[in-house]
Amino acid sequence: MTRGRFITFEGGEGSGKSTQAGRLAERLRAQGLEVLLTREPGGSAGAEAIRQLVVNGEGERWSPLTEVLLMFAARNDHLERTIRPALAAGHWVICDRFADSSRAYQGGGGGVPQSFIEQLDRTVVDDDQPDLTLIFDLPVEEGLERAFGRGLFETRFESKGLAFHERLRHTFRDIAARHPERCRLIDARGTEDDVAGRVWSTIEAALPLPEVQA
Ligand code: TMP
Repeated sequence: MTRGRFITFEGGEGSGKSTQAGRLAERLRAQGLEVLLTREPGGSAGAEAIRQLVVNGEGERWSPLTEVLLMFAARNDHLERTIRPALAAGHWVICDRFADSSRAYQGGGGGVPQSFIEQLDRTVVDDDQPDLTLIFDLPVEEGLERAFGRGLFETRFESKGLAFHERLRHTFRDIAARHPERCRLIDARGTEDDVAGRVWSTIEAALPLPEVQA
């Protein structure tokens, strides 16, 4: 059985990545592929329980270091129970956020040393690095306006200040620049269809689709 492909979607708040992850999953299924659409923090029963701890409550409920440990605990469960079995079964896995969110939110945004995050990543993610990471890039005010418009501003991370979100964007762009073999920056401005078109051309260029029997 050929191992499936692992694609992660990353970006700041209101970047539209979750909608686009859903659209890509549908499009790949229409090509005959088995696709698992999942998310972080979450994607397994244990990781969804941890999600409730990290996304709810006061902005300062957890220190960034505690937060990154919770994120990697959730990620470990998600990998063990959901992602690795799906890849081994030959399914394509699309994950809405993954380890780059820890690098951006807890590292760039929260000040946890990137060297510590890399250490956790080597132990938890190990060889199961994403084949491709799409980083949705949008001016911070635009993203927060979109998130605010959806009434989503009540989550802990969205309630953090503008400077925090600027650091996030900077870190995501920096990750994209430092890992061109894995990451592609997607311009998230414009209509949903515009962005879906950019996503699809990026997928086609980066990951050749297998011949699938109808
Ligand atoms: P979501 O809003 O995209 O569902 O993600 C939930 C929040 O969790 C989001 O504000 C970003 C945050 N997050 C981190 O801070 N670190 C991480 O490693 C992950 C996966 C998410």
